[in-house]
Amino acid sequence: MDIVTLARFQFAMTTIFHYFFVPFSIGVALVVAIMETMYVIKKDENYKKMTKFWGNIFLLSFAVGVVTGIIQEFQFGMNWSAYSRFVGDIFGAPLAVEALLAFFLESTFLGLWMFTWQRVGPKLHVSFMWLVTLGSILSAFWILVANSFMQHPTGYTYRNGRAEMNDFGALLKNPQVWYEFSHVIMAAILMGGILIAGMSAFRLLKKHTLSELSTSIFKKSLRVGLGIALFGSLGVLVTGDMQMQALVEDQPMKFAATEGLYEDSDDPASWTAVAWMDEAEHERVFGIHVPYVLSILSYHSLSGGVEGMESLNESLTAEYGDDNYFPPVNAMFWSFRIMVGFGMLTLLVSMVGLFFTRQKSPSLYKKPWMLWTVGLMTFAPFIANTCGWLVTELGRYPWTVYGMFKMEDSVSPNVTPASLLFSNIVYFLLFGGLAVVMFYLVVRELRKGPDQQEEQEKEEEPATDPFDGGTFNE
Ligand code: HEM
Repeated sequence: MDIVTLARFQFAMTTIFHYFFVPFSIGVALVVAIMETMYVIKKDENYKKMTKFWGNIFLLSFAVGVVTGIIQEFQFGMNWSAYSRFVGDIFGAPLAVEALLAFFLESTFLGLWMFTWQRVGPKLHVSFMWLVTLGSILSAFWILVANSFMQHPTGYTYRNGRAEMNDFGALLKNPQVWYEFSHVIMAAILMGGILIAGMSAFRLLKKHTLSELSTSIFKKSLRVGLGIALFGSLGVLVTGDMQMQALVEDQPMKFAATEGLYEDSDDPASWTAVAWMDEAEHERVFGIHVPYVLSILSYHSLSGGVEGMESLNESLTAEYGDDNYFPPVNAMFWSFRIMVGFGMLTLLVSMVGLFFTRQKSPSLYKKPWMLWTVGLMTFAPFIANTCGWLVTELGRYPWTVYGMFKMEDSVSPNVTPASLLFSNIVYFLLFGGLAVVMFYLVVRELRKGPDQQEEQEKEEEPATDPFDGGTFNE
């Protein structure tokens, strides 16, 4: 295998694994903040127990997210040094603000939140969790500012063979930032809600192993989770639709690839629900079409045609010179449909789930198949988020920075196929190990349940609280 393919594989692997935990921690932090706020408002001790219990799950995702983030940055420097040099002047500022401000805010207040349950009043304590959530959202924002430059470069001058920043404001005003940011945050909210609901549903399937207290906490968590997932599902739908409209104008090749459209469409354009493409021959092998829908999706109108990849390839060749400008069409076509499909499914499950958990007749808890359905949804956001990033990143092919810098020019000049193969294997084993540990720890927490956890906390308290005089006197 050649260097570019191996480096791209490693980038995909580290990004996908890291991104399992990013929306996990943003979403669960938000749910925990909401639960603690309910405790402060309602003064119901059960909400406090819920907050502490799900707070532990959040801590696990935060820890693994940090570790995988470090590996992600490391592989950047190792494999993509030419690219790092090209965008260094642009990426320096947002990534520094991310590390110094956003991550600092998140980790400082997380420490305060963990160790001050007995030290400060409930109102101040809940504000720590909101600041942790804000920090994680700001972190995502600054990373997406950098990513958006790769999709739609703004605020730069091309000098000395690299992009140099000449307008920081233009980086922030980049419309791509706001599309990506709103969609990513909504997807994280959806993930937080559905994870809490799904894990609670799994736990409620083994009700006989739960105390009365744990059962009531998991039931409450399931409902809160579904409410948040419903909000997130509607959010991804609205923001995803905005992104699609922007893509038609801004990255038409990416858009045409997600629709598997080689030839220009008719006007009005029909939408292809399922299809398979022969990428070598540049043709659709089969497809099922629905009239008008592509015009509606692209322009919110019953008319309007969409340019196909063949004519877009000609315009790109005329503008940038001879190359293959066709992205991997089948991967993009199917990733897009899987992402949207899971979005629709979570919307349906959260709506129906909320209906069947309403106080008058909460039949969901009694029906194992319903609990299984909600439980299995736990995995949906991991798949949908991965597919979303595949669409975004595969779709800028063959560029690392759209219209400016190509992948083949981006790799480090001094890495070899052997060294890349070796690091790919090492990272794969490392991620596999981390995934197993994370899974084991989450399942262990879920098994313990909120009440056992409280007993354990009482026993451990003096040793875990650094502000407790006893900790240092012992
Ligand atoms: C329900 C309808 C949805 C629509 C119409 C939609 C639309 C889109 C589009 C057009 C993109 C590519 C944007 C670009 O390349 O600039 C995208 C990317 C993405 N989507 Fe979705 N999406 C939907 C659901 C979801 C769901 C359910 C999730 C995850 C839970 C999700 C997560 C993502 C992520 C992480 C990205 C990559 C970051 C970004 O470019 O915003 N999406 N989505």
